[in-house]
Amino acid sequence: MTTMRAVILTEAGGTENFSIEEIAIPEIKPKEVLVKVHAIAINPVDMKTRKGGAFLAKLQEQTPVILGWDISGEVQAVGEDVSSFKPGDEVFGMVNFPGNGRAYAEYVAAPEEHLALKPKNISHEEAVATTLAALTAWQVLVHEAKLSQGQQVLIHAAAGGVGHFAVQIAKHLGAKVIGTASASNEDFLMEIGVDVPIDYKSSNFEDQIEQVDIVLDPIGGETTERSLQTLKKGGILVSIVGGVKDHLNSIIEEKGITAKNYLVHSSGSDMKQLAELLEKGIIKPHISQRFSFEEIAEAHHQIESGRTRGKIVLTLV
Ligand SMILES: NC(=O)c1ccc[n+]([C@@H]2O[C@H](COP(=O)([O-])OP(=O)(O)OC[C@H]3O[C@@H](n4cnc5c(N)ncnc54)[C@H](OP(=O)(O)O)[C@@H]3O)[C@@H](O)[C@H]2O)c1
Repeated sequence: MTTMRAVILTEAGGTENFSIEEIAIPEIKPKEVLVKVHAIAINPVDMKTRKGGAFLAKLQEQTPVILGWDISGEVQAVGEDVSSFKPGDEVFGMVNFPGNGRAYAEYVAAPEEHLALKPKNISHEEAVATTLAALTAWQVLVHEAKLSQGQQVLIHAAAGGVGHFAVQIAKHLGAKVIGTASASNEDFLMEIGVDVPIDYKSSNFEDQIEQVDIVLDPIGGETTERSLQTLKKGGILVSIVGGVKDHLNSIIEEKGITAKNYLVHSSGSDMKQLAELLEKGIIKPHISQRFSFEEIAEAHHQIESGRTRGKIVLTLV
């Protein structure tokens, strides 16, 4: 077989610009593996890119344009310099981010250093749900904020893709977790381990908390600014939506805190850490909806709502 089905983006814009087409299976480079994809995860960045923002210019360097970065599947073939995987291995990961992942397809060429072996006790859907969103939470809390036991962490959008992993990772590392979500997600926040849930709609979070060590900010704007008030001296805020702007410099200096913007990157070694936590049941993805390949438009409408609980995935047959 030399062709596969892929979701093509014909031009920037709405979901009517998606088209499922038969195209050539990608060729692999020496350090890449060819993955037969079983499941794909959908992220807000996919939707932003589809509309013409985020990484569309990068993706347009290759035609036809294919969105997506998160895959779980089975290795079909390996390049001549690949040493970690062999045909038949089940693998998962975030491919070539920030670059061209071309994940909305039946086959994906992926650098071996972006993948990890999928634990046998979890499904492809669970594995794929634990890629871009979980890597972001891991890299922010572990590498950027260097979270340590006993610290107090404020996680905004704690019911979302990144947030629900951040809560579980922070709890695993011994933190006390404050999480924001709307009232309808309060029970969910408690289930995943949040110690102090705050309904961001009915109250001002900054009036209820202080002396926070770490803030994870997936919201931006006013939320970033108001979050700075909750941090103790020496604390750190990491925004994943570019919320740290120049006009905040004076308050950051005055309070003696650190604030930075962060962009996740592909990492097989971080994926291995996540695989271990998944295998041991320490972190569990919450999959709120599954879609078929043909339902890509519905999946994008859901992620665009901004109300997704946990993750949504596409399952390929
Ligand atoms: N820089 C990076 O590397 C990076 C990586 C991953 C994601 N991101 C970005 O981070 C953002 C979040 O990503 P995600 O995958 O977690 O999105 P998501 O899964 O779509 O987030 C949805 C969640 O956000 C919550 N929410 C919305 N407005 C809120 C508010 N004002 N306060 C608290 N919670 C709120 C919703 O809860 P309610 O329904 O209860 O309101 C919902 O559960 C996106 O903009 C994404 O592009 C950046």
